[in-house]
Amino acid sequence: MILWTKQFETGSEQLDQQHQMLIDHINLLEEQLQNPNPSREETAFAMHLVDYLEAYATVHFKDEEKCMESHRCPSCAQNRREHERFRGFIHNYKRLCELEGFKMDLLKNLHGLIQNWIQGHILKIDTQLRPCIPPIPQSGSHAAP
Ligand SMILES: [Fe+2]
Ligand SMILES: [Fe+2]
Repeated sequence: MILWTKQFETGSEQLDQQHQMLIDHINLLEEQLQNPNPSREETAFAMHLVDYLEAYATVHFKDEEKCMESHRCPSCAQNRREHERFRGFIHNYKRLCELEGFKMDLLKNLHGLIQNWIQGHILKIDTQLRPCIPPIPQSGSHAAP
């Protein structure tokens, strides 16, 4: 379970909201995996959540890469490389499911990987954006002459 804290803030409200959405779904996946004897519907729902996470992450990565580029964030290239790694986890998981058939353990491993990755990635890479984004001026603090 990942708990959102201010440490995750990137300086971009849009990216923070997307991160919260990703975290909510990773936590939801964890909840789904807690049942030791899931029904067919529950298993299908958990697999569907992975597809959703993959699609949502793709949109988020694009927005974030664009944002880092436009603010000339020095972590831009590293961010892109790490996003590729994330896509690799999902790709490998799907490949293994094709080869070996779906197993709940595979999904649990994937969840663990994604959970650790997202926390580390936001804290180490995405938050590098914070000092690159100029602060929004407080309204009223600079009254026009
Ligand atoms: Fe990122
Ligand atoms: Fe991100």
